[in-house]
Amino acid sequence: MARVLNIVLLTLVFLFHYTDASRVLELTDRFSEIRKEGGIWLVKFYAPWCGHCKKLEPIWMHVAQALSRSNIRVGKVDVTKFPSVASEFKAYATPTIKFLKPDYEHTYNGERSKEAIVNYALRMAGGPVQDVRQVDSIDRLKKQNQLFFMYVGKPKGPLWDTYFATASLLQPYVFFYSVHENLVKDTVDIPSTPAIFVHKEGSHYFFNDGISDYPDDITTLNTTLYKWINEERFETFPRISSDNIKDVMETQKYIVLAIVEENKAKYISRDMLQFRNKFEQLIRKKRDVYHKHFQFGWMGSPDFANSILMTRIKMPYLLVLNSTTFHHHLPDDDPSVMSVMAIEEFLEGVVNRTTPTYGGDALHLNFARRIFDLKRNIEDMWKGNPLLLVVLLTLPSLFFLLILWSCCCTDVLDADDAEEEDYHEKKE
Ligand SMILES: *[C@@H]1O[C@H](CO)[C@@H](O)[C@H](O)[C@H]1NC(C)=O
Ligand SMILES: *[C@@H]1O[C@H](CO)[C@@H](O)[C@H](O)[C@H]1NC(C)=O
Ligand SMILES: *[C@@H]1O[C@H](CO)[C@@H](O)[C@H](O)[C@H]1NC(C)=O
Repeated sequence: MARVLNIVLLTLVFLFHYTDASRVLELTDRFSEIRKEGGIWLVKFYAPWCGHCKKLEPIWMHVAQALSRSNIRVGKVDVTKFPSVASEFKAYATPTIKFLKPDYEHTYNGERSKEAIVNYALRMAGGPVQDVRQVDSIDRLKKQNQLFFMYVGKPKGPLWDTYFATASLLQPYVFFYSVHENLVKDTVDIPSTPAIFVHKEGSHYFFNDGISDYPDDITTLNTTLYKWINEERFETFPRISSDNIKDVMETQKYIVLAIVEENKAKYISRDMLQFRNKFEQLIRKKRDVYHKHFQFGWMGSPDFANSILMTRIKMPYLLVLNSTTFHHHLPDDDPSVMSVMAIEEFLEGVVNRTTPTYGGDALHLNFARRIFDLKRNIEDMWKGNPLLLVVLLTLPSLFFLLILWSCCCTDVLDADDAEEEDYHEKKE
């Protein structure tokens, strides 16, 4: 037994080593074998030169640190050194973050912050619904998690079954718990059991308004519960980035984005903050009215909006996206000078479809967006590093000249060949 253990330990030491002062395991192409042996992995596939990977590097170290006492092992694979591993796990884009078990894999597509990634890993490592057994655990949950779903009652019957099924689908995105009624009845006013509520931003909101007349038909119950959970699983005003915009679009609501300029040090100027705060106050005050139709959020960069609108927007900015058709709506006035009432009117107009609609998901528009993005990237590069741009743009022209030149030369060579053939012929 001891010998087997020794061999295992030795191979472990050979197969990966701890990178300096961090708990991240540097993995090699032996990883596909190691993974089959069991264990739970959170792996980052990266390329040394990619900018987003460099940004993720320190965050990844903190993630590993935070998970060091869990049973989740945190690793990274350099896809330029081990392309076979990348293709095995279909990690074509870098960075790609994957949660892996011997017979299961899932690709992370949420926000790339330490908290978000750690929470994701912890969720994925447990069951879809985690049972809460102590009163003080609930207080701890409230402190730790901004947002979670809770089932109250006996874990059986149609509501439980659909809750569990939905939790299995949405486990990557949000926490699901269950609890006995006695443990929560002092802190939450439960109208009847079984019940499901979402805890967010210090409040509780019940599924089906807490009335226990759930749909009889299991398919209808499933559809309504899934829809409700999907609508409720975001905070009222989260940060939205290109990492998680796709996920937010799944709510199938109108996505309302307040766009401000945040610099690299996460600093937002006073004017921009004023706009954002004014907007946030309004949507929180009128949550009941807006909640059904809108998912709000804010962005710290204009890139996404620039790409949608194919222009350079002036910040702060307000953009509404139809998450099913990808059309968008814009206020007529400059958002920075809009009054609260004007914003309200604008949102009302979106719902009753009196504000004009632009864009969409048509093929030609997507093509135009690509071209626009390319043009904008070139412009940005010109501002950032003109020399690099010149090199990049002239290199292909040099290649082209080389090809032209070699074409001319082949003619010459062909001619030589012909002569040679003639020569041979004469010889025979
Ligand atoms: C419940 O609804 C979701 C979303 O519509 C669907 O993906 C899932 O397959 C349904 N499950 C059952 C058991 O009907
Ligand atoms: C988006 O547009 C479609 C088609 O006009 C409409 O039916 C739908 O209600 C709109 N809103 C959302 C949130 O999808
Ligand atoms: C739609 O909303 C706008 C803005 O509040 C309002 O002026 C208009 O009367 C509404 N239209 C309908 C048909 O409800």
